[in-house]
Amino acid sequence: MTDTKAIVFDLYGTLYDVHSVVQQCDAAYPGRGIEISALWRQKQLEYTWLRSLMGQYIPFEQATHDALAYTCRQLRLDLDAATSATLCDAYLKLSPYPEVPAALQQLKAMGLPLAILSNGSAFSIDSVVRHSGLQDYFSHLLSVDRVKVFKPDPRVYTTACQVLELAAHEILFISSNAWDAAGASHFGFQVCWVNRQHNTFDELGVKPSAVIGSLDELPALVGAVG
Ligand code: 2OP
Repeated sequence: MTDTKAIVFDLYGTLYDVHSVVQQCDAAYPGRGIEISALWRQKQLEYTWLRSLMGQYIPFEQATHDALAYTCRQLRLDLDAATSATLCDAYLKLSPYPEVPAALQQLKAMGLPLAILSNGSAFSIDSVVRHSGLQDYFSHLLSVDRVKVFKPDPRVYTTACQVLELAAHEILFISSNAWDAAGASHFGFQVCWVNRQHNTFDELGVKPSAVIGSLDELPALVGAVG
């Protein structure tokens, strides 16, 4: 990782906890929050990948909305328009993982530009980051809106190289999503996989350059090898 000139983060599940919507799901459907949140996130991801394969781009909010509709139908839960709006709005106000503000502060002090590259729309990314008050840490908030296809399509990772004016190997990409870490490694980024849940890395022909258990380990990793 000696070439690192910028750190680029995935957003959902990496900096921000997608399951911070469990509380709102539980308020709407008592006792079902964890189950709803898990299936909702899984379907949201599938819908981004499937829409990309179909050659049909939709904004991330649409994938989130459609995935919630599927989830409620699958779990035999009535979903009215007001509840759908409330729960989808919760996705714009996700909580960062507890260690994130301090880790960003330490990384910023090291002088490397920090950016986000996400499947979220520009509107979604901006909403989530501003709601948490972390916007000043990032030089760029990069959305797939620019290329109208979702990660792990290489055109998305290319966006970061173009905007930051860096070669792929000069970017350290951070993701908790193994599929995203694999896509970014395949593209040529240095990649650090954040494995909070002790999961197994996907069998996609590549491995991340480094693995950490949470983002508070990242400043030491960057400092040690930067
Ligand atoms: C992202 O933020 C969906 O987690 C993925 O791009």
